[in-house]
Amino acid sequence: MLVRLLYVSRSVSKDSAEAIESILHASRNHNLHHGITGILCYGGGVFLQAIEGGREAVNKLYNHIIEDPRHADVVLLHYEEITERRFGGWTMGQVNLSKLNTSIVLKYSEKPEFDPYSVSGKVSLALLEELMATASIIGRA
Ligand SMILES: Cc1cc2nc3c(=O)[nH]c(=O)nc-3n(C[C@H](O)[C@H](O)[C@H](O)COP(=O)(O)O)c2cc1C
Repeated sequence: MLVRLLYVSRSVSKDSAEAIESILHASRNHNLHHGITGILCYGGGVFLQAIEGGREAVNKLYNHIIEDPRHADVVLLHYEEITERRFGGWTMGQVNLSKLNTSIVLKYSEKPEFDPYSVSGKVSLALLEELMATASIIGRA
């Protein structure tokens, strides 16, 4: 039984590059052992993360993540049962949203800065799909 979960949050630290490094380092080991795959996007002080895996593993991880003091304002955007993974190639791929091609962002948003808080979960998921298609995700495991 696989599920996919998508949430958005705000980074507490101004230096998100440093926060990202420590988050990803711990995440990759944990995710590999628990069959979790996904993508962590960041930029403009915002995290957008898609997590896929077994229902229990994903729910447990999400409950753990929302308690993490490195971010705040966690909002669940999307949760669904799935038959196959979309981000199966990454224990946790990463994307710097502020370095994205403006035309990709404008395709899904009113302004050139992507703000997951102001669009539907469906739209954020569509952007992630586009990032996959355009090979914008780094950190293949
Ligand atoms: C934005 C964000 C994304 C995170 N993503 C993951 C993740 O995909 N996998 C993971 O194991 N931990 C992730 N974490 C870290 C967890 O919240 C937690 O620190 C980590 O699982 C280690 O937990 P522990 O110290 O209780 O062992 C994330 C944290 C933040 C702030």
